[in-house]
Amino acid sequence: MRFRILITIVVFFSPGNSSRILGFFPIPSLSHQRIFQSIWKELSLRGHDVTVISPNVLNEPDLNKLKEIDVGFVYKMMEEWNVAKKISLENHQMRSIMNIYTFFQEVMDIELEQKEVKSITNNKTEYYDVILVQFSHIYPLVHGIASKFESPLIGISSMDLYLHAHDAVGNPTHPLVAPDIMLNLHGKLGFFDKISSVLHNILYRILYYWYALPMADKVARKHFGENIPYLGDVEKNMSLILTTVNPIIHPIRPNVPNMIEINQIHIREKKPLPKDLQDYLDSAPEGVVYFSLGSNVKSANISSEIRNIIIEALSELPYKVLWKWETDYLPNQPYNVLTRKWIPQQDVLGHPNIKVFITQGGLQSIEEAICNEVPMVGLPYITDQPYNVRKLEEFGIAIGLNPGTMTKDQFKRAILEVAGNKKYKERVREAKAILTDQPMKGVEKAVWWIEYVIRHKGAKHLRSPAADLSFFEYFLVDVALFFVFCALLLTYVVVKMIRWCRCRSKKGLTKEKAN
Ligand SMILES: *[C@@H]1O[C@H](CO)[C@@H](O)[C@H](O)[C@H]1NC(C)=O
Repeated sequence: MRFRILITIVVFFSPGNSSRILGFFPIPSLSHQRIFQSIWKELSLRGHDVTVISPNVLNEPDLNKLKEIDVGFVYKMMEEWNVAKKISLENHQMRSIMNIYTFFQEVMDIELEQKEVKSITNNKTEYYDVILVQFSHIYPLVHGIASKFESPLIGISSMDLYLHAHDAVGNPTHPLVAPDIMLNLHGKLGFFDKISSVLHNILYRILYYWYALPMADKVARKHFGENIPYLGDVEKNMSLILTTVNPIIHPIRPNVPNMIEINQIHIREKKPLPKDLQDYLDSAPEGVVYFSLGSNVKSANISSEIRNIIIEALSELPYKVLWKWETDYLPNQPYNVLTRKWIPQQDVLGHPNIKVFITQGGLQSIEEAICNEVPMVGLPYITDQPYNVRKLEEFGIAIGLNPGTMTKDQFKRAILEVAGNKKYKERVREAKAILTDQPMKGVEKAVWWIEYVIRHKGAKHLRSPAADLSFFEYFLVDVALFFVFCALLLTYVVVKMIRWCRCRSKKGLTKEKAN
């Protein structure tokens, strides 16, 4: 018995047990890539042979089982395209979704053209135990990479999912229980909100299944050949989805067993701050406001009017300000403001003198703030940010403003309120207690589930039958029609019978009279 245990242990830890993993994380957005980085790093540390294609490679020399293919050149496309402007708040929802779709498809198209990428996708003799793909927005071309290999596929999202992702594994998408994040709807919905949520659920699917998916399929055929299965079938064949959501922000919803919620994936141990920043923060016992709009919304893209409003408000604060500003020069820089092009955000947020975090409301930034107990002022710009910020407000750990319309006074008042009113700090402590009270760390959970899929060769036993039902079957349209038919038939028979009885009794009467 002991001997068997020993053998099991030896087998388990021997290199023979390492799996071959391929990851395709194509979208140029650092905050999202941090999630995937943490996961592929951990997988390679656990002895797996990991190959990834990403615009943000780690390049850590001691990760010797990791092969990273750098497609970082696509960041240039991102800048030329100006993501923040194209998908700004003013845009219509569907148009904004389509803008993102068109751009990401272009990005992937170019990435798949690269020689190094082709050497992987064209190598038919290669085998992978699992393929991981980024699955956060609407860019179905990503599944193309799995179309040539007969490996189980896992989708990983760095944010809440869109409807088609839920559909892939048969997860319920009730328009009232969990309205789509793009709609920015909260709490109990009013009548017109319900209508808009239902319409969105229908329109989005028309757009995705009848336009986006067939278009992506065409491009996939260009790269992977005519013999690949339909891209929609590859997506539907997905073994598991890992989605980054948390109970503070996202709707609580029922999930099928192969829909796994993860969070705090990128949260790491504190590292010492660079000396200049450490000194700056140490020397401000009155408090510091930390300001960063993340990696997608560049400060320099903010219009000069809004920038002036921001600068004036900051200059009137009784606090020091640390601002992630990406150019060399900040016009009219106030004396209490220090700018840096890059800031180790998690470590700065961990400094006890940080009073407020002014953020665009990206999910990763929010998690970092909560884990460090820092309340927020939200200036949301794109995609899920408006929704996230509203949820933070509802939870009582932030004040949200519209960066396009706010005045200097509103901005200043919001900062002073969040910094000065103790209730924000208390609430953010509660939020942290909820968020961090979990049986295992985020990245451990993600890796456990990926290895689970490898162990069970796709883990098809977890698949919900709902994933394979058509819309008509799922909503029992045929059954409902049958009942409607029965009701009509019954009504018809009853009406006929009443008529017949009346007729007879009339006949009876006339006969009586005649007699
Ligand atoms: C579905 O996934 C299995 C592995 O889980 C794979 O062998 C098969 O080729 C896939 N089929 C399609 C159509 O992608």
